[in-house]
Amino acid sequence: MVRLSSEILALAVGLLPQLVQGAGLNTAAVAKGKLYFGTATDNPELTDTAYVTQLNNTDDFGQITPGNSQKWDTIEPTQNTFSYTKGDVIANLAKANGQKLRCHNLVWHSQLPSWVTSGTWTNATLLAAMKNHITNVVTHYKGDCYAWDVVNEALNEDGSYRESIWYTTIGPAYLPIAFATAAAADPNVKLYYNDYNIEYSGSKATGALNIVKLIQSYGVKIDGVGLQGHFIVGSTPSQSSQASTMAAYTALGVEVAITELDIRMTLPSTDALLAQQKTDYSGTVAACVATKNCVGVTIWDWTDKYSWVPSTFSGQGAACPWDENYVKKPAYTGILTALGGTATSSTTTSAVSSTSSTSTTTSSGSSATGVAHWGQCGGSGWTGGKTCASGYTCTYFNDYYSQCL
Ligand SMILES: *[C@@H]1O[C@H](CO)[C@@H](O)[C@H](O)[C@H]1NC(C)=O
Ligand SMILES: *[C@@H]1O[C@H](CO)[C@@H](O)[C@H](O)[C@H]1NC(C)=O
Repeated sequence: MVRLSSEILALAVGLLPQLVQGAGLNTAAVAKGKLYFGTATDNPELTDTAYVTQLNNTDDFGQITPGNSQKWDTIEPTQNTFSYTKGDVIANLAKANGQKLRCHNLVWHSQLPSWVTSGTWTNATLLAAMKNHITNVVTHYKGDCYAWDVVNEALNEDGSYRESIWYTTIGPAYLPIAFATAAAADPNVKLYYNDYNIEYSGSKATGALNIVKLIQSYGVKIDGVGLQGHFIVGSTPSQSSQASTMAAYTALGVEVAITELDIRMTLPSTDALLAQQKTDYSGTVAACVATKNCVGVTIWDWTDKYSWVPSTFSGQGAACPWDENYVKKPAYTGILTALGGTATSSTTTSAVSSTSSTSTTTSSGSSATGVAHWGQCGGSGWTGGKTCASGYTCTYFNDYYSQCL
């Protein structure tokens, strides 16, 4: 891993659009039959032009998730007063870029306004407030979201229900009622249960399986289970463990997605930790690739610069596939390889490609039949295919990037 000097970095940021060359993570994921490879983002970082340039790169990201701006405290800070400004910024960005949006989230124990957590509730009044929130928010974003995380993190580590305001006031019925309310507001959006530490077998995964069964037992629709994937370098569950756990969910008739993937390490990062991180990312993504009904992978932001990890886990970080200077880490190649893409040497002579280990890439199998859906088909310096596969049109985005849509 070659570190960029600050002078080179300044030049590199100026040349950042050249980083979008080549077939990236999303292109490779789609070529593997997945719906997307995506990333979380958040409103404050959208003032960083270099950051947004890469966020906009649909060759890597065919999907985005708002990290915070659709949460309850942002959207309904006062009862029955809805504020969609921040969430709309990200929904509109996704729409303008042709990226899918995973909408996140409707019912959670955290990031709730005090009128919810400190209110005096009966079963009936809290159910009414919950349904009002869900109906308003799902209706507002109707047509924008591929999926909603309807209920987030309802379980304790031992698989029992978390003692949230929802559970203690309404009981487990809050789950099917939340899903039924969301389905009524938008019958077409995919409805997910989303949690962490349910990616490998154990009490908590059993709890998540039981949630799917509970919702189905009410005759209510649940479409998917979101496996967050907040992992630790060197103790990430194995590919086979993740694949067999995914199979347990899909056997219930739901799809799965990896929804918040990041793999943190104890700082400082070393070459050995970065190599292990590459292995861990690769195995996790490969588990999704191997699972027919795993629809896609979302990383919980793409750069260490804006990762939630250092502020949440003291002494830990470097969890994302790009470092804080927007240079691809070995993890990027690990993901791309797991997606069936091939890392090849860059043919450009820009400061970026000649001084960093960043390489442009081509996903296998796209050239014979034209560039696949979502693939790059033009832009300044682009030397790859310019003709799209049958049914897709090479669409100009800017001088640096055209895409088969
Ligand atoms: C990112 O994409 C949006 C929507 O397509 C566009 O308006 C914006 O100018 C792009 N920003 C950068 C920095 O490329
Ligand atoms: C609250 O009301 C719902 C809807 O009638 C019901 O399913 C649930 O069991 C009730 N919860 C409690 C704790 O009584």
